Amino acid sequence: MDAAAGATRRVCVTGAGGFIASWLVKLLLSKGYIVHGTVRDLGDKKNAHLKELENASANLQLFKADMLDYDSVRSAIAGCEGVFHVACPVPSTRSLNPDVSLFFIFIDSYHSISFF
Ligand SMILES: NC(=O)c1ccc[n+]([C@@H]2O[C@H](COP(=O)([O-])OP(=O)(O)OC[C@H]3O[C@@H](n4cnc5c(N)ncnc54)[C@H](OP(=O)(O)O)[C@@H]3O)[C@@H](O)[C@H]2O)c1
Repeated sequence: MDAAAGATRRVCVTGAGGFIASWLVKLLLSKGYIVHGTVRDLGDKKNAHLKELENASANLQLFKADMLDYDSVRSAIAGCEGVFHVACPVPSTRSLNPDVSLFFIFIDSYHSISFF
């Protein structure tokens, strides 16, 4: 990814407020990309650091999206030429077989972006 690679290019990063995604958003913004970052709660203080990143005021747009909600994901990635799917859905309830449940949640989240 060279310094000019991101000029005028638009990409989406899912789960933008997460650990890995935050560093990715920072890198993309530093390279000049316009970034659509998805978060589940736009008002959550744990996502506030994103707005402090270099170039964020001009090039970072945050979208409220849950990976299991197709329409919210579609809105977030509209107009993007690439999606970095970093969000890591976890179930809100305990499962008798968490490995199987997590597998299907991951598959569902990929279905949400599979039209891209
Ligand atoms: N951290 C590491 O060292 C490491 C190493 C290797 C691989 N990984 C992998 O990288 C991925 C991200 O890890 P991480 O450490 O960055 O995790 P993290 O900090 O927990 O971030 C996960 C992100 O996913 C979002 N998310 C969870 N469920 C969602 C849903 N249903 N819809 C939309 N967003 C959802 C969370 O949003 P909320 O804030 O709203 O919950 C959060 O922003 C994981 O798959 C992990 O296994 C991580």
